[in-house]
Amino acid sequence: MTTDRIAIFDTTLRDGEQSPGCSMDLSEKLRMARQLEQLGVDIIEAGFPISSDGDFAAVKAIAAACRKVTVAALCRTAEQDVARAAAALAGAAHPRIHTFVATSDIHLKHKLQKTRAEVLAMTRASVRMARDYAEEVEFSAEDATRSDVDYLCEVFSVAIEAGASIINVPDTVGYTLPNEFSGLVSAVRERVVGDKAVTISVHCHNDLGLAVANSLAAISAGARQVECTINGIGERAGNASLEELVMAMHVRADQLAFESNVKTRELYPTSQLLSEIVGFDVQPNKAIVGRNAFAHEAGIHQHGVISNPLCYEIMTPESVGVSNNRLVLGKHSGRHALSLRFEELGFALERAELDLAYGRFTELADRKKSIYDQDLISLLSADIRTRADSVMIQTAGVGAPSYR
Ligand code: KIV
Ligand code: ZN
Repeated sequence: MTTDRIAIFDTTLRDGEQSPGCSMDLSEKLRMARQLEQLGVDIIEAGFPISSDGDFAAVKAIAAACRKVTVAALCRTAEQDVARAAAALAGAAHPRIHTFVATSDIHLKHKLQKTRAEVLAMTRASVRMARDYAEEVEFSAEDATRSDVDYLCEVFSVAIEAGASIINVPDTVGYTLPNEFSGLVSAVRERVVGDKAVTISVHCHNDLGLAVANSLAAISAGARQVECTINGIGERAGNASLEELVMAMHVRADQLAFESNVKTRELYPTSQLLSEIVGFDVQPNKAIVGRNAFAHEAGIHQHGVISNPLCYEIMTPESVGVSNNRLVLGKHSGRHALSLRFEELGFALERAELDLAYGRFTELADRKKSIYDQDLISLLSADIRTRADSVMIQTAGVGAPSYR
């Protein structure tokens, strides 16, 4: 089976930054961009230079600092927008101008107040102008999934004729379904791209929770660039999550013969850096990078994971940069995990002692959400406590929730 390379286009600093509560200042964007380069993304969309002086400065600074990746700047199909994006990218080692216009009738009528013919002309002019400044031009048809497919194909053909080498099919409002989206991407591939040296890109929003599924369906239909963000941040419900896309390709390589340049061990550190910068954590049950992604509380699961992590883990925590799995002690836990934690704390319990401690533990866990090591130790009778190595007791992580 041959493996195709998927270009990872990270838009955390543009679409991601547009989401409520996620704005970043220049130094934060630079830290994030350096980490994205370290992670191994192919393209960093660094901002929308016409939108503010801050965005202009961020694109310029990232273009100067990140010399290995392609740095993209977004612009509408207006002359001053394209010129501003080009100016911000002037010092980039690998610049890309990303120009977009909406193609759905609803956007044409209510937002742009333009005819289809006018939008075609705007597309041609802006892509041509962008090509005067940059070798690499990407064109996006905003709201592509709610656009008339014949018209969409016409717009993409014009963009390619004018010099775009990447055409992006955004599901701007997160409306499409996987089978429908793969059909649309196949239509664009067959009717517009053919054997031209043009990359099809997709950009999926998560309004129905389908951004990753839709992106994977598109890859299977011929897309070779995916636009995504760390932790899935982005407008409204967010964009396709980079870590989920990369790990889906990695873990299910048997079904998805695609690879990316991303160093998977950098996923968790990158997610953590973004959370630290924007000031909020990802939801605990978020795939790959959530606090509970490798946590096990139920007794049966803990027993399985202690015997062999493969029982309940489809990837190792280490493979995404998480130091190890966590056996959370709570009301669903069983004797195996409790015994293991006691051993780690320096108490090797006899069966009868463990039974007694387990009875007390379940009573406590019914009353208390977080069980700390100190709580566990207090469940033991005095003679067991004195029997144990006192150094272990003192260094047993008292004050931290009980897990490993
Ligand atoms: O969602 C969208 O359509 C966009 C475009 C600018 C690519 O963010
Ligand atoms: Zn978007």
